[in-house]
Amino acid sequence: ESYDMGGHDTYMHKEIHEQVDAVDRVLRGRIDDRFSTVHLGGLNLDAREARGVRRVKILGCGSAYHTGLIGAQLIEELARIPADAEPASEFRYRNPVVDPDTLYIAVSQSGETYDTLAAVQELKRKGARVLGVVNVVGSAIARETDGGVYVHAGPEVCVVSTKCFTNTAVAFALLALHLGRIRDLSVADGKRIIAGLRKLPEQIAEVLRGEEEIKKLAAEYANAKSMMFVGRVRGYPVAREASLKLKEVSYVHAEAYPASELKHGPLALIEPEVPTVAVLPDDDLLEKNRATLEEIKARSGRILAVAHREQEKADHTILVPRNEVELDPILMGIPLQLLAYHTALALGRDIDKPRNLAKSVTVE
Ligand code: AGP
Repeated sequence: ESYDMGGHDTYMHKEIHEQVDAVDRVLRGRIDDRFSTVHLGGLNLDAREARGVRRVKILGCGSAYHTGLIGAQLIEELARIPADAEPASEFRYRNPVVDPDTLYIAVSQSGETYDTLAAVQELKRKGARVLGVVNVVGSAIARETDGGVYVHAGPEVCVVSTKCFTNTAVAFALLALHLGRIRDLSVADGKRIIAGLRKLPEQIAEVLRGEEEIKKLAAEYANAKSMMFVGRVRGYPVAREASLKLKEVSYVHAEAYPASELKHGPLALIEPEVPTVAVLPDDDLLEKNRATLEEIKARSGRILAVAHREQEKADHTILVPRNEVELDPILMGIPLQLLAYHTALALGRDIDKPRNLAKSVTVE
């Protein structure tokens, strides 16, 4: 991949379309079919150390933090290690208890984000083991961490992260699979996840083939007063990231909530001018999510669903191919990148350089 625009009008559009190859690259050479696991050469964490990990704490900012939310869920699901993610900036300011049995992971596209780097330095000072999930090879965070996983998304120029977000989520799936297979994950589940990972590039291509449809939807929703994004568990980090992306690139105000939290307050905002984007994986929470759609409809809210099958309660559904449920957050974010892109385009925004933002925030 190069800095050449390759016929695209913006880097954001180019980078969204590069995801098919980028995901292929993060997988390449890492899958071990013989043992239904993956090899992560730079991890620097042997099997004994990995088995001793009692908790995982993931730190990052913005989109990187959101991939950390996905990563924490994957690590809990596949490796059965309690895991959570926190904004790196908050973490370092609250004088956290640094626990020797916790594995800390810093996540960053640039590897230079000051808040994340400072969190790494604080952790190292207190004797923690810190891994990096980083895109830019040889960056400050890559250098200061004890080991990690490179994301191999290639250069990402647009301020708004797209391909790096997706590749980082895939990198977390690889890490979770690796940790799972040296702890408790069965061969059958290992195989199942590997098969799912291998399907991703073609499924991303399938989502991208639906771009014209998403462009029409973007035109329909572009004049919203504000947008609500909701999801439960696996859908929630997707909703958060989609909301951030829409704000960053189109300047349309957006809020993201766990779907279960709507009735605890944000439901008051629902009206026809405030449409909801609902992320609805076909998992055991689908029925609960459908009940949320009914609550929104009862308040005259418009709904755009991202789902594996048509949702009758929604005004529109963007269909996403099925994969293993654990991998749903990876695929379901991609149509919402296109939605943000086409909303920004319809509103005439400066897509690659949104106002007030920098690609990498290297100051406090
Ligand atoms: C990406 O859409 C954003 N511009 C922003 O949230 C970014 O993810 C954040 O600043 C962290 O950057 P990093 O991944 O380079 O550390």
